[in-house]
Amino acid sequence: MKILVITGSPRKNGNSNILADNFVKGAQDAGHTVLRFDSAFKNVHPCIACNKCGMNGECAFKDDFEFVKENIADADAVVFASPVYYFGISAQLKTVIDRFYAINEQIHVHKKAALILTYADSAQKTAQPIISHYETMLGYLGWEDAGQIAASGVWAAGSVNNTNYPKMAYELGKNI
Ligand SMILES: Cc1cc2nc3c(=O)[nH]c(=O)nc-3n(C[C@H](O)[C@H](O)[C@H](O)COP(=O)(O)O)c2cc1C
Repeated sequence: MKILVITGSPRKNGNSNILADNFVKGAQDAGHTVLRFDSAFKNVHPCIACNKCGMNGECAFKDDFEFVKENIADADAVVFASPVYYFGISAQLKTVIDRFYAINEQIHVHKKAALILTYADSAQKTAQPIISHYETMLGYLGWEDAGQIAASGVWAAGSVNNTNYPKMAYELGKNI
């Protein structure tokens, strides 16, 4: 399978990137081809709703989103990895997802998807708004959820290494 992993944290050695690393390793060990787009380190302009693309055409902006555009349509799976920021995904990841608008028709084909979240709270309900957003988006796109990891109780960068979540992320990658 071809898998596109889109991350959203500006912390290179942060928790969601560590889980993404583990996911990638598991997927590669299973023989999959993995491409990764680290949104926080790319130049992606937010959608300005100019509608030049007509939801299926050229975007007004030529930036690093081209990589996503070139690789998402034929990807068999797309993985979203983000920290929780004020009960949502990071703005960096959301900016990339909003740009799906211009390729809307091309991505309405069956794919697997997975969600990886990291957050400081211990409350399960903290992840709920994001899970709801993710599941609603998948329903719209006709994608199939292949797994979700909501890693709670991790604040400091790297603290997720003291938990079982990296192993879970590896297994998710291996078994996707
Ligand atoms: C701007 C900002 C907003 C945050 N909002 C929340 C939040 O709403 N709930 C929560 O539990 N943790 C919140 N956190 C903590 C992060 O989710 C947590 O540190 C997470 O592990 C960061 O992931 P990363 O290391 O991949 O960047 C916030 C952190 C920042 C910097």
